[in-house]
Amino acid sequence: MCAFGKDWLALGYDGQLSVWALQFILPDSLKIFSGVAIITKLFNKPFTQQEAIPDAGVAAAIEVLRSGRLHRYNTADGEASETELLEKEYAAYQGRRYCLAVTSGGQALQIALRAAGVLPGDKVLANAYTLAPVPGALHAVGAVPQFVEISDDWCVDLADLERQASTGEAGYLLLSHMRGRIADMDAIAQICKRHDIVIIEDCAHTMGARWNGVLSGNTGVLACFSTQTYKHLNSGEGGLLCSNDPRMMAQAILLSGSYMLYERHGAAPAAQYFAQLKWTSPNCSARMDNLRAAILRAQLPCLDANIRRWNERYRVLLNVLRGRPGIRVIERDRRENFVGSSFQFHTVGMDASAIQAFIGACEQRGVELKWFGRETPHGFTSRFDSWRYLAHIPELPQTRKVLATTVDFRVPLTFSVDDCRLCAEIIAEQAAVYFVE
Ligand SMILES: Cc1ncc(COP(=O)(O)O)c(C=O)c1O
Repeated sequence: MCAFGKDWLALGYDGQLSVWALQFILPDSLKIFSGVAIITKLFNKPFTQQEAIPDAGVAAAIEVLRSGRLHRYNTADGEASETELLEKEYAAYQGRRYCLAVTSGGQALQIALRAAGVLPGDKVLANAYTLAPVPGALHAVGAVPQFVEISDDWCVDLADLERQASTGEAGYLLLSHMRGRIADMDAIAQICKRHDIVIIEDCAHTMGARWNGVLSGNTGVLACFSTQTYKHLNSGEGGLLCSNDPRMMAQAILLSGSYMLYERHGAAPAAQYFAQLKWTSPNCSARMDNLRAAILRAQLPCLDANIRRWNERYRVLLNVLRGRPGIRVIERDRRENFVGSSFQFHTVGMDASAIQAFIGACEQRGVELKWFGRETPHGFTSRFDSWRYLAHIPELPQTRKVLATTVDFRVPLTFSVDDCRLCAEIIAEQAAVYFVE
C-alpha cells in the first residue's frame, strides 16, 4: 500500500472479487487499471454540516434580535423570556421538575458537580472514555478524577466500577454516556446505592435516549446536556441541567449567575430553597441568552422525529458494516433505546499503522473517521492519558486496549440514508484492504 501524491490512491476495489489495484483518479472519478474501467465510490458531503435551524427558530431568533432583549433577565413587563420558556419546555420533555439553561454542556457539568456538593480534593469516579470537557469540568472544581475502565462495548466496566466504588474513597460518579452508549443503568444505580455514591450523568450524546424505558439523565440526581452544534439540539453553544432535587437545583441556578432573579426561571424550585443558599453561592456567570433559547425551543418539538431519522441511518450503517472483514460492530442491548447520531466499530486484524492508513484511505474517498487509539490528541478526540494537567493519570490497560481499535464517526442529519449506505460501503471496502487474517 502506498500513495503517489494526492492524485493516486491505493484501493482494493471489491473485497469479494479480491481485485487489488493502484488506480489513477480522474476528475470524474473514473478509474482505469489494466484497461479495465471501474467506477469507484467517492463521498463528497461534509461531516460537519448540520441541518439548518427550522424556519420557526429563525423567525423566533429574529424576533429576539429585533427586541434587543437578549439577556435572559431583560424582559418587558409581564414577559416570560425565551430562556425561561425553554427551561419549562425542556423540563417537561425530560420529565424532571427542574431545568436550568446555561452556556455550554461543560458549564452544566461544572455547576452540577458543585451543586451536588463536590469540593476541591474530593474524589469523583468517571468512566475513562469521554471527551475533554469532562476532565476539564472535574479539574475546574478541584475534584480528583478516579477513572474507571471501560468494556469492549465502550460503556463503563461494571466490575471495575464495583471495585473502585467499594473502596469508599469516592462519593460521586460522573458518568458520561459517551457516543450515546448507555451502560446497564439498573446495575449502575444498584452499585452506587450500595456504596452511597451520588450519580451525575453527562448526557451530551444521549439527549432523548432511554435505558429500560427511563430517559437518559433520569437515573442520576443531576443530568447535563449539551446543545453545542454537533449535538441533538443545536444552538452553536449551550447546555441544560435537569434534576428533581430542589436544593441542588437552587444551588445550580445561583451558581449559573442568577443575580437573585431566580424567580424568573421557568422550572425552578420554590423561593424558600434559595433563602440560605443565596448567601453562600458564588455567581459563576454561565447564563444562557434568549437568542439561543429561541433557536432551541423551535427544535425541541422535532427532537423525537429526528431521533427516528438518526436511527434509520444508524441501522443502514450497521447492516452494511456488520460481519465485514476488518470490522467488528457491537450490537446494542435490547434495553437501550439509543440515538444513533454517531457510529462506532472496532477494527480487526490491523495494527496501528494499518489503522492509520485505513483511516487515511477512507478520508481520501471523502469519509472522515475518528480513531481513539491515536497517541496524540487530535481534533475532537483525546484519550485519558492526554489530560496531563490532571494530578494523576492512571494505567488503564483495558481501556487503552479497547480504544486502540475504536473508530467512530458522527452522522449528521444532512446525510441521507443512501449517503450512509455509501459511506459504509467505502469503509467496508477499505477495511477489507487493510485487514490481515
Ligand atoms: C461527552 C461530552 N460531554 C460533555 C461535553 C460538553 O459539551 P459542550 O461542548 O457543550 O461544553 C461534550 C462536548 O462535546 C461531550 O462530547
